[in-house]
Formats: sequence, structure tokens, C-alpha cells
Amino acid sequence: MRAIAFSTYGPADVLEVVELPLPHPGPGQVRVRVAAASVNPADWRLRSGQFRRFLRISLPFVPGCDVAGVVDAVGSGVSLEIGDPVIALQPTKIAGAYAEQVIVDAASLAPAPAGLALDAAAALPLCGLTALQALRRAGLSSGDRLLVYGAAGGVGTLAVQIGGLLGAEVTAACAASGRELVAGLGAARVLDRERDDLASPGSYDVVFDAVNALPFRRSRQLLRAGGTAVTVNPFAARLAPDWLAFTRNGRRLRSVLVQPDAVGLATLSSWASQGDLRPVVERSYPLEQASSAHERSQTGRVHGKLLLVADEALAAHVPGSTGWAASA
Ligand SMILES: NC(=O)c1ccc[n+]([C@@H]2O[C@H](COP(=O)([O-])OP(=O)(O)OC[C@H]3O[C@@H](n4cnc5c(N)ncnc54)[C@H](OP(=O)(O)O)[C@@H]3O)[C@@H](O)[C@H]2O)c1
Repeated sequence: MRAIAFSTYGPADVLEVVELPLPHPGPGQVRVRVAAASVNPADWRLRSGQFRRFLRISLPFVPGCDVAGVVDAVGSGVSLEIGDPVIALQPTKIAGAYAEQVIVDAASLAPAPAGLALDAAAALPLCGLTALQALRRAGLSSGDRLLVYGAAGGVGTLAVQIGGLLGAEVTAACAASGRELVAGLGAARVLDRERDDLASPGSYDVVFDAVNALPFRRSRQLLRAGGTAVTVNPFAARLAPDWLAFTRNGRRLRSVLVQPDAVGLATLSSWASQGDLRPVVERSYPLEQASSAHERSQTGRVHGKLLLVADEALAAHVPGSTGWAASA
């Protein structure tokens, strides 16, 4: 099978097309024929070596944590059928979605959304679960006033919509170039993060920094007493002075490190099937142009998601509303 791998850490051009033997699923696993993967900043951080001190991987390594495709082979103990449309979040250390086939633990799969093309479904797992887990960690409740900072990115575009689905009144902040896009996602108001005041102090119950760019002090000012800031910076909890400052003032600081979660993924899939959650795709690239997709992601200016299409015909396939996709 064709895959994209890197054998050495470095810039985007260390990614190369390789031929690998077809993998076989073990007990509890399935092989997924990949329609599309998506590009996440973690992919190029891993490729560049930024994670090498705390995440050991063996080279050559096939990146890609977001999987959308169909079940192609099943290991023992798995009740799924060949052809079932699925999505999955692979653990960062295993990844492997930049390929025509990938082995996935059956327990981490969710049905692909009905009525959404499989390529767009690949935009959901990592960013959708990050947003969902962050907002849940913050204890977001119906009626809360939520600020999503970095609303035009992969996590942000889904967080704006998920915040609304959880019943919050959402204010979204992004650069002017993303304003129109983000306004279409259902935010009550969209602020220009470079020009507008984010709000008067104490305006929000929850502040979600979806890009790790809002200084903690600013998040704290924006929160009401007892409110919660949550960030995608997974090390925020270790930044003791900021942590203590939050606590002293009756405000909480939480961080999220996304975890595979089949139940959460099924929730995202169900929202997408109902048309309530819409992945935003900036651009799709064929698998062999993974290095160009990484270069674009590294600009930090992507609006929504970048996709890598492994199988063009399968990527255009729209799962119907019958079978496992509807009943799981
Ligand atoms: N902890 C976790 O588990 C976890 C999970 C997923 C992602 N992450 C991290 O979260 C971050 C966002 O991920 P992503 O997939 O959403 O990335 P992304 O799609 O590449 O984010 C791009 C967006 O970032 C915005 N942006 C860039 N610089 C900004 C700044 N200084 N202030 C505010 N917004 C800025 C841009 O919007 P504008 O148009 O407004 O500039 C752009 O739309 C990444 O650092 C990623 O590694 C962490």
C-alpha cells in the first residue's frame, strides 16, 4: 500500500511516498481503507522533532491521527462488517492515517456521519474531540457565556459550533480574514481579535483559548468570578504562578490533552449526521502532496482543516442512514 512517511526528523520535504506491506488486523482491531486523513499541527511538530524528547516513535513513521474510511478487514472478536463507514482518532504515537490502509482498535471507532462525504468526516476526530473535551473540562453549561479565542482554526471552528450545541451563548474571536466564515458557524457575535476589545472584564463564564495564544492574565480578566479558562496548552497546569493566580481569584484554569474517546466521537458523528455540526475544510490535497499540506499548516493561518485524500472515489462517498452508521 502507498503511505507517506518520514525516516528522519526535519522540514516538510522529509515526507516521502513509500510502499509498505498491507497490514493485517490483530484481535480487536480492524483495517480501515482510508478515504482521507486530516493534517493537524501535531503531525508537523512530530515530524520536525519538537516532540522527540517526550514522545518516542520508531522511524520510519507514518503520521496522521484522523481517519475516515471504510472497514476493509476485521480481526477476531470484532463485530463490524466489511464496508462499514467509520471515523477514528489514532493515538499520536501510533498515528498511521497518511496511508491507503491503517490498523485501528475497533474500540476507538465511531460510525462515520450519515449524509457527510467521508473526506469531510476526516476533519472531525482530533479537533472535534479536543473542543468537546475542553468545553466539558471547563464545565460549560447551557446558558453560559463562552468566548472561543482562535475561532477560525481547526479546533476553533468546531468549538464555536459545539459550544452552541451545548447551549452556550458563543462569542468568537479571530482575525478579520476569518470573520465571515466564523459568523456562518452560529456565533452570537464575532470579534476581530486584533482590533476589538474582547469584552469588558468579567464578561464570560468560560474562555476557551483554542490556539494557545491568549495570555493567561487576559483570560482571567475576561472571566467572571468563579469562571473557568481552558486552553489547548497541555502544560498549562504545570505553569504554577499562573495556576495559583487563577485559583486565588476564584477562577479556574484547565488544560486539555485530547484523548481517543469512541463515545465522544459518536456524539460528534451524530451531530454531523443531523447537520448540526459542519466541518470546515480549507483545502484537500492528494496524499502525495502531504509536504505542501504541512507547509500550509505551519503558516498558522489555516481556516478550518486541511485534508489528505488517499482514495478520491471513496472520499466522495456519502454514507447513508442505514446499517451500523445509523444504529451504533
Ligand atoms: N492539547 C491538545 O490536545 C490539542 C489538540 C489539538 C490541537 N492542539 C493545539 O491547538 C492549536 C490549534 O490547533 P488547530 O488544529 O486549530 O490549529 P490550526 O487550524 O492550524 O489553527 C490555525 C488558526 O490559528 C489562528 N491563529 C494563529 N495565530 C494566532 C494568534 N496569535 N492568536 C489567535 N489566533 C491565531 C488563525 O486564525 P486567525 O485568522 O485568527 O489568525 C488560524 O485560523 C495548535 O497549537 C495545536 O497544536 C492541542
